[in-house]
Amino acid sequence: MTTMGTRVTPYAPADAESKKEQVARMFDNIAHSYDFLNHLFSFGIDVLWRKRAIRILKKTFAAHHGSLKIMDMATGTGDFAIEAVRMGLKNAHITGVDISTGMLEVGRGKVAKRGWSERITLLEGDSANLPFDQDTFDAYTVAFGVRNFENLDLGMQEMLRVLQPNGIGIVLEFSKPQAFPMKQIFGLYFRFIMPTIGRMVSKDAAAYSYLPESVAAFPEGSAFIERMKNVGYTDCQRIILTGGIATIYTGRKPRQT
Ligand SMILES: C[S@@+](CC[C@H](N)C(=O)[O-])C[C@H]1O[C@@H](n2cnc3c(N)ncnc32)[C@H](O)[C@@H]1O
Repeated sequence: MTTMGTRVTPYAPADAESKKEQVARMFDNIAHSYDFLNHLFSFGIDVLWRKRAIRILKKTFAAHHGSLKIMDMATGTGDFAIEAVRMGLKNAHITGVDISTGMLEVGRGKVAKRGWSERITLLEGDSANLPFDQDTFDAYTVAFGVRNFENLDLGMQEMLRVLQPNGIGIVLEFSKPQAFPMKQIFGLYFRFIMPTIGRMVSKDAAAYSYLPESVAAFPEGSAFIERMKNVGYTDCQRIILTGGIATIYTGRKPRQT
């Protein structure tokens, strides 16, 4: 892991490859152990956090008639998209986008196994340059993705561009608990226990050191809300989850742009 100013990348030297290339390589490397380690490290709480985010979507579109077009940005192995279909998000077609072909390959296997290829499409794509027209989606979700973007503001702008007017963006991301004892427990667990186990199981020494460093560098809370407003989101809100380990941010595209 390398830290250059506020630029945190998984591997050194940081200037040999872009952050995007390093992040894609890292997720390709860990794709086959990602789901296992994700659920193990979070004791399954990550599933509850995604469900919470999907309940916000269901509530938002409770009175909506017709089908919904949803983008799941940084979809990885497709867990958000799969959970949305499983929870019966009505008539939704979900397009998952990711830069890691390895993660997408695992995700496509999971979608096919469930017979949901008609409901979920997984595509290779970069948050900085999305292959969609503006005003395409009713909503987007992105879980544990934005802190990996090479350019956070550009990614947030691109996701806003492809949202329909009044469409909603939902960002789920790790945050740092501020209060005793969660702050101390989380610090110990995230900085020492998780990287050690992650290194042993995933065989990628850098990936699980990059995780706490990228969380530490992420502009969370009110700073992230400000970033959302600055690139054009309205109605920005946040919900703090599990003592501050994660946060859901929501924002809308203005009705008139
Ligand atoms: C921690 S995983 C999260 C996967 C999934 N959303 C989940 O909840 O399990 C982060 C994902 O973000 C993807 N990613 C990172 N930067 C990206 C970018 N610029 N554009 C698209 N995907 C990106 C990575 O390839 C990786 O699959």
